[in-house]
Amino acid sequence: MLRDKYCGEINDSDIGKNLNIAGWANKWRDHGGVVFIDLRDRSGIVQVVFNPEINQETHQTAHKIRNEYVLQIKGEVRKRPAGTENLSIPSGQIEVIAKELKILNDCNPLPFMVEDETEASESLRYKHRYLDLRRPAIQKNLIIRHKATKSIREYLDTQGFLEIETPVLTKSTPEGARDYLVPSRTNPGHFFALPQSPQIFKQILMVSGLEKYYQIVRCFRDEDLRADRQPEFTQVDLETSFMNREDIIAVIEGLIKKVFTETISVTLEAPFQRLTYSEAMERFGCDKPDLRFSLELKNVSDIVKESSFKVFLDTLSKGGIVKGINAKGLAGYSRKELEDLTKEVQGYGAKGLAWIKIKNGFESPIAKFFPEQALKSLAERLEAEEGDLLLFVADNKKIANDCLSRLRNELGRRLGLIKEGVYAFVWVTDFPLFEWNDEEKRFEAMHHPFTSPIDEDIEKLFSINTEEIRNPKSEIRNLVAKAYDIVLNGYEIGGGSIRIHKKDVQDRMFQLLNISPEDASLKFGFLLEALQYGAPPHGGIALGLDRLIMIITGAQSIRDVIAFPKTQKAICPLSNAPSTVDPRQLKELSIKLDIVE
Ligand code: AMO
Ligand code: AMP
Repeated sequence: MLRDKYCGEINDSDIGKNLNIAGWANKWRDHGGVVFIDLRDRSGIVQVVFNPEINQETHQTAHKIRNEYVLQIKGEVRKRPAGTENLSIPSGQIEVIAKELKILNDCNPLPFMVEDETEASESLRYKHRYLDLRRPAIQKNLIIRHKATKSIREYLDTQGFLEIETPVLTKSTPEGARDYLVPSRTNPGHFFALPQSPQIFKQILMVSGLEKYYQIVRCFRDEDLRADRQPEFTQVDLETSFMNREDIIAVIEGLIKKVFTETISVTLEAPFQRLTYSEAMERFGCDKPDLRFSLELKNVSDIVKESSFKVFLDTLSKGGIVKGINAKGLAGYSRKELEDLTKEVQGYGAKGLAWIKIKNGFESPIAKFFPEQALKSLAERLEAEEGDLLLFVADNKKIANDCLSRLRNELGRRLGLIKEGVYAFVWVTDFPLFEWNDEEKRFEAMHHPFTSPIDEDIEKLFSINTEEIRNPKSEIRNLVAKAYDIVLNGYEIGGGSIRIHKKDVQDRMFQLLNISPEDASLKFGFLLEALQYGAPPHGGIALGLDRLIMIITGAQSIRDVIAFPKTQKAICPLSNAPSTVDPRQLKELSIKLDIVE
C-alpha cells in the first residue's frame, strides 16, 4: 500500500507518528516560504506543511504542485500551532510535516474547481464527471447509497428473500412507458426491449415456487425526464407468494426503517400513515401528498353554488368542481403578488385563481357575487382567521385537484412549512383499477394490467359490458385495485400490488383493456401460459432506489445520487452516448436508416 492511513482519519492519536499518505492536492498556498497543501482522499483532507528548514529538496518539489496533482507524502503528524486549528474538519487539530514527497501524477489545468460549492454548469460537470465525482458532497451521496444497498441486502436476506437476476435483453413489459429497443443480429428485423421493470419475470418466479424474490435492478424507460426521473434507474424490486398486502407493507416498513438507521442514524416510527386514494385526492388533490405540512384542500362547490359568480356557476353546471385552499397569513399579498401567483397556477393548467382576503371582513373582487352567509361558510370551511388568504380554482375535478395540489406544495415552500429532517411517509392504498385516458378516449390499467381487483369487485369485472371501457362515466372507474404506493415527502418512492393469479381474471382484464387474445399472447403469452400451471397467489412492490437515496441525502435531483447520470436530453456527456454507429454494424443488424427530421 502506498499509504498507512487515510487523510481524513488522522487525528490527535497519531501525533508524533511518521505516516505515508496519498491523495490529491486539494488546495495549495505559499505563506512566506512555507508551502501548505490540503491533501484529499475519499475520507477527507489533511493539511501538509513543506518547510525548507525541514527538507530543502521536498520544499523545492512542493513548488511544482498544482491543484489535483496526485501525491504520496511521508511526514510526521504534529499538533497544529495554537490559533491555526480548523474546527470545521475532523483532522483540523493536526498537520503533517512533510519529509518526503513523490509526485505520482500531474493534472491538466482544470475545467472547474473540485469543490462542493461549484458554479460549473451541469453539462461541463457531466462531461468531466470523473472530476465532478471527486467533490466530497457527491462522494458522500454515493457512500450513503452503498450503505443503503448493503442494508437492504442484509435485511431481505434475513427475511428469506432470494436475490435472483432477470434478463436485460427481453420483451416489452407492461408499465406503459416507451421502450428502449435493441436490434437482434441473429434474428433480422427482431428487437429486444430493455425491461421497464422485471414485472413478468418476477411473477414467473412465483409460479416457479421461489416464494420470495428480490433484486436491486436497473430499469429502462424512454420517457420525458424530470428531477426525479432518469431513463435508466434502479428499483429495489420484490415479489412474494402467499403473502397479502399487509405482509408486504410490513416487510417494506422494516426495510426502510433499517436503511434510515444505518445510513443517517434516523429512527423512524412505524407503521407509517395510510390514506386511501380517494382520501388523498379529496384532501390533497394528488396521490403523492407531501405530508410534512397540512394545508388541506376543501371542496366548496356546495357553498359557491349560492353565489352569482358566473365562472364558478358555469364550471359547476358542466360537472366541474370548485376547491379552495387557505394560504395562512398571506392576506398582505399585493395585487402584483396575487397576479404572479395566478400566472403560476395558470401555468399548471388552471383558467384562473380566485381569491378572498380575510382582512377586516372579506376583501375580494368576487365578494360582491356572494351573499354574506356564503362568504362566512367559505371562511368556516377553510378554517380562515384574520390575515388569511383564501384561494380557489374552478375546473374539472382532475385539473382543479392537480393545480391546487401544486399550489399547495408552492405554499408549503413559501410559508416555510417544510422542515429539514422531517420524513413524512404515507401508504396510499385502494387505487382505482382503471384510469381514463383522455387522448385515447378509453380506460387503461392504472397500475399495470396484472394488478388484481379487490375480491368484492371481481364479479363486477365480469358483469361489466366490454363497451363500457370507452365510456368515461362508466362504473368501471369505481372498481378498486389491490394496489398500493409508498410516498415520502411528496415523492412516490415505490408502488406495487397483489397480482391476478387466475388465468380467467387475467383474460378478462385484457378483454376489457381491448387487448385482443392474439395481442396479449404476443406480448405477455409466456406469463399467461405460466398462470395456468398452478400459479400461487402472489404480489410485490418496487421501490425507486434513486428517489429514496435522493431524499435520504437531501440531494436536489436523482442525478446527484447516480454516478453516471443522463442529462435532461437523455444523453451521457461523458461518453457521448448515444452516438452514430459504423455502417458495417448496421449492415450486420440488417438495418437501413431513413431518418425523418
Ligand atoms: P412503478 O412503475 O410504479 O412500478 O415503479 C416503481 C418505482 O420506481 C420509481 N421510478 C423511477 N425512478 C426514477 N426514474 C424513473 N424514470 C422512474 N420510474 C419509476 C418510482 C416508482 O414508484 N413493476 C412495478 C412494481 C410492482 O408492481 O411490483 C413497477 O415498476 O419510485
Ligand atoms: P374574470 O371574471 O375572468 O376577470 O375573473 C375574475 C377572477 O376569477 C380572477 O381573479 C380570475 O383569476 C378568477 N378566475 C377565472 N377563472 C377561474 C377559474 N376557473 N377558477 C378560479 N378562478 C378563476
